[in-house]
Amino acid sequence: MPHDFMPGLDGVPAATSSISDVDGQRGVLEYRGINIETLCAQSSFLETSYLLLFGRLPTRPELDRWTSDITHHRRIKFRINDLLKCLPETGHPMDALQAAVAALGMFYPGRQVKDAENNYWSAVRLIAKLPTIVAAWARLRHGNDPIPPQDDLEFSENFLYMLTEQTPHPLWKDIFDDCLILHAEHTMNASTFTGLVTASTLADPYTVVASSIGALKGPLHGGANEEVIQMLREIGSPERARAYVEHKLAGKQKLMGFGHRVYKVKDPRATILQGLCERLFTACGPSPLYAIAVEVERTADDLLRGKGLYPNVDFYSGIIYDQMHIDTDLYTPLFAMARVSGWLAHWLEQLRGNKLFRPDQIYSGEHNRPYTPLTQR
Ligand code: CMC
Repeated sequence: MPHDFMPGLDGVPAATSSISDVDGQRGVLEYRGINIETLCAQSSFLETSYLLLFGRLPTRPELDRWTSDITHHRRIKFRINDLLKCLPETGHPMDALQAAVAALGMFYPGRQVKDAENNYWSAVRLIAKLPTIVAAWARLRHGNDPIPPQDDLEFSENFLYMLTEQTPHPLWKDIFDDCLILHAEHTMNASTFTGLVTASTLADPYTVVASSIGALKGPLHGGANEEVIQMLREIGSPERARAYVEHKLAGKQKLMGFGHRVYKVKDPRATILQGLCERLFTACGPSPLYAIAVEVERTADDLLRGKGLYPNVDFYSGIIYDQMHIDTDLYTPLFAMARVSGWLAHWLEQLRGNKLFRPDQIYSGEHNRPYTPLTQR
């Protein structure tokens, strides 16, 4: 039966899911029915990842076990470090992360994705090891030894420690943890859909996550956070923001960090991230990039409001990471470190009622063309 073609599958449901929900008109995002404002105020990234994966908040013993299991699986095999050492240091960290995650699956080759115990440990390993891989790459490419994870440090604190070998400011770890919560899940986005397609073939979860990482890298998706910072640096000062935005829009170019397929108001994650920026800069000193960003948003509000284009999650996140002295090209890997929870939750949901993704197409080519021999072309 012929169907209407929807470019980009705009508005076409690809799954039924109880993991998260977006109300794009009101700017509401919920994970398992709990809004993200509440989760940022009261939860932690690890508790939120449990909620996403298992459908409810953990009891104290469940959370303790989950935290302990993740903590004890943070280390990566020396061969993963060796693999990272072989990659060109000028390469993008998302490519290094994708290669390392694909390789992880070779060390844990359980192919029985219908085995709940096996799946639990795969989820634990992936959530635990992604930060270690990102931090190891960040150090190795500058000729420094990776810093092993510290069992007595919490998830976010440990990641920031593995980057610099310094215990981070207490506010940094709290704000960073909120950033991870905000990036952990977001319904049927491009990288989640990519992972679901891979999952539907019953591929192993390392392959599922590696394919999602590939989709997240692009500048229309997770890669936008890096591009926003480059744009703010290029603008250079708040006074130059209006002319820059006008010039971009006049040239029909996109403003990175603006617009969303689903939100027709400001992305609630952008609102929370902006609040986190203000908390961070009040306590730790102002950020020149933040002042520019506020001016870009004000100008865009004048010029784009009629089109329903507002800041999305990628607009304010990088400004926070910049203040924490994290390299700009690591911002999308940070997104992946958080989103792996959502990808895995969708993977488990897909396995429960799996049907191979095999969409249709509308053929627009010719039929019955003659084959012209090479000598006659
Ligand atoms: N700046 C200026 N104009 C825009 C923008 C933007 N950021 N986004 C969309 N538009 C315009 C676009 O030019 C088009 O205009 P017209 O109808 O006159 O040709 C119209 O809005 C529709 O754009 P679209 O790209 O067809 O819409 P979409 O629903 O496919 O776009 C989007 C969603 C996120 C790809 C797009 O808004 C965009 O490219 N934004 C910039 C990149 C970005 O910030 N990506 C992060 C997305 S949110 C988090 C994540 O996934 O990581």
